[in-house]
Amino acid sequence: MIAEARVTVSGGPLRYLEAGSGWPVVFLHAFPLSADMWRPQLASVPEGFRFIALDLAGPHTSMDAIARDVGCALDELRIDSAAIAGLSMGGYVAFAMFRLAPERFDGLVLADTRPQADTAEGRAGRLAMMELVRRGGAAAVADQMLPKLLGDTTRRERPDVVAEVRRLIEASSTKSIAAAIQAMLDRPDSTRDLQRVTCPALVLAGEEDAITPPSDAEAMSRLIPRALSVTLPRAGHLSNLEAPDEFSKALADFLTARI
Ligand code: MLT
Repeated sequence: MIAEARVTVSGGPLRYLEAGSGWPVVFLHAFPLSADMWRPQLASVPEGFRFIALDLAGPHTSMDAIARDVGCALDELRIDSAAIAGLSMGGYVAFAMFRLAPERFDGLVLADTRPQADTAEGRAGRLAMMELVRRGGAAAVADQMLPKLLGDTTRRERPDVVAEVRRLIEASSTKSIAAAIQAMLDRPDSTRDLQRVTCPALVLAGEEDAITPPSDAEAMSRLIPRALSVTLPRAGHLSNLEAPDEFSKALADFLTARI
C-alpha cells in the first residue's frame, strides 16, 4: 500500500509517498513531474526496504536549497542515511545532496541524468522555457517536453503512459516549474564529485533516451568507482515509467545484492 504524508521543511510542507518497511531508499523525481512518477516502484518494494518519494516542487531556485530541504525531510523522518535514487533533475538534486552530506549515502542510483552543468545552448533553452511557462502555463510545457521525455516506443505503443505523464506535468504549478528551471539553469558541474562516490552505485538509462543517452550514462558510470551500468530497452528519458518492470527489477537486484 502506498501512503501519502507531509513533513515541514524550510520551503513549507513537503509531500511524500511511502511504501514498505526496512532500509530507506529515497526517490527524487524528474522535471517537471512529482513524487507520483515513482508509483510503479512504490507498488513493488522489495522485502526489507522502505521506499520514500519526495515532492521537490517548491519555492526554491537553487539545487542546494532543494537538497537542504531533502536533508530536513530525512531529519524529520529520523533517517540518518539511505540509498538515494534520482532521475534526471532528481539526479542533479542527488549531486547537490552528496556535496552537502556524503555520509548520508548508503547507495546512489542515477537514472537518465548527467553530471555536467548546462551548455550555453541549454541555458538559452531554459530561458525560453521560462518564458513559455509564464505565457502558457504547465500545459504549454507539457506540449513542448512530451516528445523529448518519452521514447519512440512509448509514444507509439503506450498512450496510457503518454497521458499519465501529461497529467503529472499539468498538475505542476507555474511557480514551481519556473523555480525548478532557475535551479537547473544555475546548477554547477558535478563531474569532479563522481570520483568521491564510494558507496555502491547503479546507473540506469533508457535505450531511447534522447536527453541523456545511454552513451552519456556509461561515460558517467566509468567515473564512479563502484558503479554498475544498466540500459533499459524500449524506454526513453522517463525510464522508470516507460519500462517500470525492468527498472524495478534492476533496482531490486542492486539493492538486495549491494546495500
Ligand atoms: C528532467 O527530466 O528532469 C529534465 O529533462 C532535466 C533537464 O531538463 O535537464
